[in-house]
Amino acid sequence: MAQLWGGRFTKETDQLVYNFNASISFDKKFYKQDMKGSMAHVRMLAKQGILSDEERDIILDGIEGILKDVESGKLEISDEYEDIHSFVEATLIDRIGDPGKKLHTGRSRNDQVALDMKLYTRDEICGIDGLVRELLTVLQRLMEEHTRTIMPGFTHLQKAQPITLAHHLGAYFEMFKRDRGRLADIYERMNYCPLGSGALAGTTYPLDREYTAELLAFAGPTLNSMDSVSDRDYLIELLSALSTIMMHLSRFSEEIIIWNTNEYRFVEIDDAYSTGSSIMPQKKNPDIAELVRGKTGRVYGALISLLTTMKGLPLAYNKDMQEDKELTFDAFDTVKGCLALFTGMLDTMKFNKSQMAASARNGFTNATDAADYLVNHGVPFRDAHGVIGRLVLYCIEQGKAIEELSLEELKEISPVFEEDIYEAVSMDTCVNKRLTLGAPGEKAMEQVICKNREWLESHGSLG
Ligand code: ARG
Repeated sequence: MAQLWGGRFTKETDQLVYNFNASISFDKKFYKQDMKGSMAHVRMLAKQGILSDEERDIILDGIEGILKDVESGKLEISDEYEDIHSFVEATLIDRIGDPGKKLHTGRSRNDQVALDMKLYTRDEICGIDGLVRELLTVLQRLMEEHTRTIMPGFTHLQKAQPITLAHHLGAYFEMFKRDRGRLADIYERMNYCPLGSGALAGTTYPLDREYTAELLAFAGPTLNSMDSVSDRDYLIELLSALSTIMMHLSRFSEEIIIWNTNEYRFVEIDDAYSTGSSIMPQKKNPDIAELVRGKTGRVYGALISLLTTMKGLPLAYNKDMQEDKELTFDAFDTVKGCLALFTGMLDTMKFNKSQMAASARNGFTNATDAADYLVNHGVPFRDAHGVIGRLVLYCIEQGKAIEELSLEELKEISPVFEEDIYEAVSMDTCVNKRLTLGAPGEKAMEQVICKNREWLESHGSLG
């Protein structure tokens, strides 16, 4: 047991209590951020005359040495310390003696941990944003390639109207674009520095909080010391944004799983991204998509856990807040893993164009266009809808598609049909006549693809 406190205690902490309380097994994850924060704090203390320049330099050298040794593996972050803050401070005192004892001047572990978590989270937001950007880049490439790849569009998982693969993928492009927008908003809102808030009520030392905020590249210092040490809103917002990313990935995974079935055969997942069965030799399973769909629950769970942890906490810091870490870290790692693997799977996936087109032809996806044909020849839409309904029924009985009927058969159902009906209900016409902005028609799609390309170029990395 190695702890920073003990003066007012007459008994040793019970070992089980110590273990229950300790956080080093998981907060060692932000050792770098902890030391970076301490170095900024020390620079500020010296600027304010609270430490001498000589003390500052000795402490900075000491922390840099610890950081270097941890990174090279020479120094192990030992679980005998209560938390990462105690480990760094105790190691520093051990190495440089008395000046090390001044590191914690004007600071509490409450503002320290609030800072560390923000610094760590800020880096993670940038990393996750970069991964979403890579996914968007793959989507952009596929959209450019597939503006003419016809497939059925679905509602209720029933074939509805013909669309293109570019159009279908474009829907996901919009979702992931909004996800990046949310990450950027959260980054901007959270980017204020809590350091200098002390345990809850600031400190009597003349700290320059603007200066530390600037050294750590924050937009400025936070403005209420109680809120600073007890705010976990940004984690809740982020877990909500990450849940939304997972929801999008999960919907997309679900479609890929369906498209990959023997019944659909719209896609073939690359061998490198699928797995086999130990008993059934013919199997090639979409495990990555299934795992992404499955892991979504973990991220939702983290959001609900943290909301629940926070809901009854009086101001200011309470130890409950230590629970923010493990589940948030797990969510970060889960989302990063899912994004990277999903992008790799999508990038290497083959699309079976002829199968997609055949599927679009075989499900009366041109029925709306057949009705529109009648409308364009003076039939009121409601009547046209009824006529085409009867036509579809006839086709089902005959086992034929609309375009496979003879003109005589068509005319029997409505004399309005003429030879040009075949052109009007061809898949190409059905898709390419849909030219409203956001629709699948090739010209409309090209406009959107161009806007998306500009968006990707003007929205580089966060941070
Ligand atoms: N491990 C603690 C946490 O994660 C650090 C802050 C401890 N502060 C305290 N007063 N015990 O929240």
